[in-house]
Amino acid sequence: MRMCDIIRKKRDGGVLSDAEIKWFIKGVKEGSVPDYQISALCMAIYFRGMNIEETTALTLAIRDSGKVLDFSEINGLRVDKHSTGGVGDKTSLVVAPIVASLGVKVAKMSGRGLGHTGGTIDKLEAIPGFCTDIPLDEFKKIVNRVGIAIVGQSEDLAPADGKLYSLRDVTSTVDSMPLIVSSIMGKKLAADDDCIVLDVKTGSGAFMKTLDGSRELAHQMVEIGKRAGKRMCALITDMDRPLGYAIGNSLEVIEAIETLKGNGPADLTELCITLASRMLFLAEKGTLAECEANVKRVIENGEALNTFANMVEAQGGEKSWILDSSKFPKAKYSYTVKAERSGYISSVDTEGYGTSSLLLGAGRNTAEDTIDSAAGIILIKKNGDFVEEGEAIAELFAEKEEYFENAKNKLLASTVIGSTPPCSVPLVLDIVE
Ligand code: URA
Repeated sequence: MRMCDIIRKKRDGGVLSDAEIKWFIKGVKEGSVPDYQISALCMAIYFRGMNIEETTALTLAIRDSGKVLDFSEINGLRVDKHSTGGVGDKTSLVVAPIVASLGVKVAKMSGRGLGHTGGTIDKLEAIPGFCTDIPLDEFKKIVNRVGIAIVGQSEDLAPADGKLYSLRDVTSTVDSMPLIVSSIMGKKLAADDDCIVLDVKTGSGAFMKTLDGSRELAHQMVEIGKRAGKRMCALITDMDRPLGYAIGNSLEVIEAIETLKGNGPADLTELCITLASRMLFLAEKGTLAECEANVKRVIENGEALNTFANMVEAQGGEKSWILDSSKFPKAKYSYTVKAERSGYISSVDTEGYGTSSLLLGAGRNTAEDTIDSAAGIILIKKNGDFVEEGEAIAELFAEKEEYFENAKNKLLASTVIGSTPPCSVPLVLDIVE
């Protein structure tokens, strides 16, 4: 086979065969296909798309480019939850311990922040001592003992995706349906879970900005997961607003702890209850109503928080910080962002809020950058709230005062203040089963 023939075929709208897709991914993994040809094919896929058979073949080839894990030593059903990426999205820190405290195992492999979005692993690393790089045998033992463990994806899991993703990132081919589906599902299918609940974000802070696009993305991921023998469900949730009030790593861990205590923001609490109930429902732990009642019970009686604290301890982290979150260090400097006019916050560009948090040091601009765990934003006003000119809308946190100017400008430019309140939009927009 020749790479230029495969590129030409897709460029002209052809359908790639299983054999061609496998050959391409093998070449990506082995380094025999140069970056410029990988990028050219990604661009051809971006414009021409792929049918579901091609997307399935691409997903399975990405999965098979590395180790496919065996979790059979873990007792009981294993359920995972995956978000397509958002701003202020700390739901994994809340739903995973809830579900584990109700007897369903969570053997979770998570990612780091990507672009303007945060990542679960960066958040967990804000807890001192917490180890996200644990040998597989130890990982399985913790899941059996505590019910839950969360680690970073090892490099031998779907390695072709790492290469593809870094090229997509710099060739404007991230937001392509088949490339997103195969990237996410290739990694998910390499882990050995029985059930997967997907949280497909839609709106200005998501990779997929339109509801139709997100719906199609959800359908394709559910279909491919089912073809691979998994029990699947996808929620499509609004990312035209950040989730909760905290953006930034330790700030988000603290908000997740509050949510596990039952004191979280309404939107975050609602989404966590819905996601956790769906995870339990997929694992056949009762009717949806029963699952929801159980979720609320383990929040109220403290079992979910306790499970989170036990996981932190089992992974080497400071359990006492979870039980007393005032121990998390504060950033050296803070800055109050004030409204430039009176009115209702009628819309926000959520991606801009994510970028503002990056500018404060909460994320990376290059792979080598280190993250400042205490940096980020606490929102004071959100979509729909009324603000007076000069009233505080957000508090920024950073290690260096000079970061505030750009971060403040980005946040203000991403906030639209109008004279009428916006229509209220449900957080969960659709469910694909
Ligand atoms: N997350 C991924 O892992 N891959 C994508 O393509 C988009 C989001």
